[in-house]
Amino acid sequence: MADQREKVLSVNNLVINFKTDNGILKAVRDVSFDLYQGETLCIVGESGSGKSVTSKTIMGILANNAIIADGNIIYRGENLLEVSEDEFYKIRGHKIGMIFQDPLSSLNPIVKIGKQITEAMLLNADKLKLMYNDLISDDLIRYKNTLAKMNIAITTEQKKLDAFIAETKAKEGLTPEQKAANKALIQQKKAEFKAFEKKVRDEYMGKAKELKVVLTETEKKAKKQVAEYKAQVTDEYKQRQKELKQRLASASGEEKAALKQELAQLKVEFENKLSITKAEAKRRALEIMREVGIPEPERRFEQYPFEFSGGMRQRIVIAIALTASPEILICDEPTTALDVTIQAQILELINKIKAERNLSCIFITHDLGVVANMADRVAVMYAGKIVEYGTADEIFYDPRHPYTWALLSSIPDVDSKEKLEAIPGTPPNMIYPPQGDAFAIRSKYAMNIDFREEPPFFKVSDTHYAATWLLDEKAPKVEMPRIVSERIRNSLAGGAQ
Ligand SMILES: Nc1ncnc2c1ncn2[C@@H]1O[C@H](COP(=O)(O)OP(=O)(O)OP(=O)(O)O)[C@@H](O)[C@H]1O
Ligand SMILES: [Mg+2]
Repeated sequence: MADQREKVLSVNNLVINFKTDNGILKAVRDVSFDLYQGETLCIVGESGSGKSVTSKTIMGILANNAIIADGNIIYRGENLLEVSEDEFYKIRGHKIGMIFQDPLSSLNPIVKIGKQITEAMLLNADKLKLMYNDLISDDLIRYKNTLAKMNIAITTEQKKLDAFIAETKAKEGLTPEQKAANKALIQQKKAEFKAFEKKVRDEYMGKAKELKVVLTETEKKAKKQVAEYKAQVTDEYKQRQKELKQRLASASGEEKAALKQELAQLKVEFENKLSITKAEAKRRALEIMREVGIPEPERRFEQYPFEFSGGMRQRIVIAIALTASPEILICDEPTTALDVTIQAQILELINKIKAERNLSCIFITHDLGVVANMADRVAVMYAGKIVEYGTADEIFYDPRHPYTWALLSSIPDVDSKEKLEAIPGTPPNMIYPPQGDAFAIRSKYAMNIDFREEPPFFKVSDTHYAATWLLDEKAPKVEMPRIVSERIRNSLAGGAQ
């Protein structure tokens, strides 16, 4: 069962708002999900449901007007929302890769493809430094996080205090006594803040000091380990070089040429052990280009993005994401801009890479047809919330939320190509999200309670949950739309699993 696999990422109670001219827009409203090792989790929902905002939060690339109002994203025991920008960069650059909808916008039009692929590799070319960073990173992040948490706690309280002072000072028409009382109140709040700050600092600095001791120890060990590695590699090289040079001194003709070549090769190998040279980066880039199915990679390496078709560009974007050997790959509608046959090829490529590299994948789409080809599990999003989640089979063959039914009714039938019902109505204005079940106004299955109270998640199976009052024991029994149940029957009868 999925739940017994290792969790690689855990999103908990995420709330993301945006400041806009018209008010606060609630883009993501209490979203939680887990990603398990080696699986593909598809997030599916209409335009504006909060899919991209969720994935951008994981990547740490939200727009400036975003407010992370609540929640956490746990990756390897650390909250990605709290790690400092440096750490976040290390993690997201290395361990979490992202592929966007429009390949053109993620490529630089005036830089050759080859350079764009090798750029990131050459940026981190010093292998000894990488090795050192890797060795200390867990302890470093733990230490830095403690300081970050402390600062967040203090600034949050500081903001509250500032707001209180501003509000109190803005009050008009007060008597001198009231003014004096307010002044005293402000003094008192300031004192309380000082005390709070001291308490928080003492508490966290104590922890931070302990972690710093651990970190210093780890740094020492790491330095030693790296130095030993370097010494070993250098010794081996020097030793072998000496032998070859001795032989070279007495060699002649063909043997001499061969030895000279061997010496040159030895030098390249030695350099590659310490840093990624340009030649090595190119070799790797060509290898990855082959892996993602670019024909004639040597020629393509020298070309510009405009010389590539849409599908080939998307392959390049995938190649760039792979150069960092990520553990998690987030694909946000990676095929929407492509025509159907190319789309199928890219999906196949992502599946192949995922299997070969044992990646865990979050795949975002509004297209249930795509979901069927990709997903192990599915989370259905509506109006900033997950309304139903389960295994792909559970969502396709036993859907429970009226919104999932509506989505299933709106995909064209694979066999008959029959155009089905569009979802009636329009998505809600997220500055004023509806109360209760946000889908109620568009649903013919809505009950009174749907307009008042938000449904909790009801359990359908260990892996399948849906947030709809229809699953409450007091609800009348309703059948899913015939169009959906018939399709399910047909596809089951048709031999699909
Ligand atoms: N920087 C921003 N400022 C204000 N609102 C934003 C911003 N970014 C996103 N939004 C709003 O947040 C909501 C969720 O947007 P999001 O991009 O996550 O939707 P989506 O599910 O990815 O849709 P699509 O299928 O169209 O890509 C939308 O209402 C969108 O208008
Ligand atoms: Mg989007």
